[in-house]
Amino acid sequence: MSRFSKESVIAVIGAGAMGAGIAQVAASAGHQVLLFDAVEGAAEQGIVNTAKGLSRLVERERMTKQDADALVSRIQAVSSIEDLAPANLVIEAIVERLDIKQQVCRQLEEICSASTIIATNTSSISITAIASSLQRPQNLVGMHFFNPAPIMKLVEVISGLETDPQVATDIYNLSISWAKLPVHAKSTPGFIVNRVARSFYGEGLRINQEGATDFVTIDTLLRECGGFRMGPFELMDLIGQDVNYAVSCSVFEAFYHDQRFLPSLIQKELVDAGHLGRKSGKGFYDYSQSSEKGNI
Ligand code: NAI
Repeated sequence: MSRFSKESVIAVIGAGAMGAGIAQVAASAGHQVLLFDAVEGAAEQGIVNTAKGLSRLVERERMTKQDADALVSRIQAVSSIEDLAPANLVIEAIVERLDIKQQVCRQLEEICSASTIIATNTSSISITAIASSLQRPQNLVGMHFFNPAPIMKLVEVISGLETDPQVATDIYNLSISWAKLPVHAKSTPGFIVNRVARSFYGEGLRINQEGATDFVTIDTLLRECGGFRMGPFELMDLIGQDVNYAVSCSVFEAFYHDQRFLPSLIQKELVDAGHLGRKSGKGFYDYSQSSEKGNI
């Protein structure tokens, strides 16, 4: 028998670009969803953004207003992490830092029941390392969605050394029931997609830094001729320069400073300047006059 059903309560912690989207995915599958963020009002804002996105689908007649309203009503913003206690599954989508993820997962373990599964949406951090701070490391698994979570099909289901294989199987099956295409992976730095993608961004940045051509040309070539949905610079702007730089640093550290994964100073400059991409209105590109600002 499956561990999860439609009656399972799903909690999402972190209501940023990914958390709000993941909450939408779970609510769309019929679950009650609890959404918490450390910043006051952020969970409410995440739900407002979701409602706005759905209203565009209603306008285009891809969804009825009734279904959109019902979906949004299933997501509840909560003001305290303790409110996540009833959850059968908690998906964390907070900042990409090992120490903070460990601390939050430890707290969740104390608040929730012994059978609650904690899934992390980390892009690159070792599942084994996050689990090492827990009393029940077997209940921690990677559930890595892609941006934007309601649209992108792939979910990497990542097992650390201590992850119970049945937990990984249950998350894999749950992802299928959420209309996703899951893949199992072992916990290695960057897992599958973010490992491959390091070269996509890294070589793009190096070509640009060496002066071969400008970043707009690189993006245009890869999009128009290479068959990619986006070039590396526009994709970094979508992901968020802060998030992508944190992933670059995490993979570089994890591979003992292998120069193949050396982060670019350009990434650091953008983060230091607060030019985080679409979410801040400026990254490699300027979104200040564009309707594309923020999440898509
Ligand atoms: P974000 O910066 O948009 O949102 C993070 C949210 O977490 C913020 O609202 C922040 O207030 C909240 N937060 C931070 N610390 C918290 C804490 N201790 N307790 C509760 N809330 C807290 O970041 P984003 O892009 O949503 O990324 C979140 C996670 O998802 C990261 O681990 C990232 O690597 C991963 N991820 C990001 C993708 C992307 O394209 N941006 C894609 C796939 C995974």
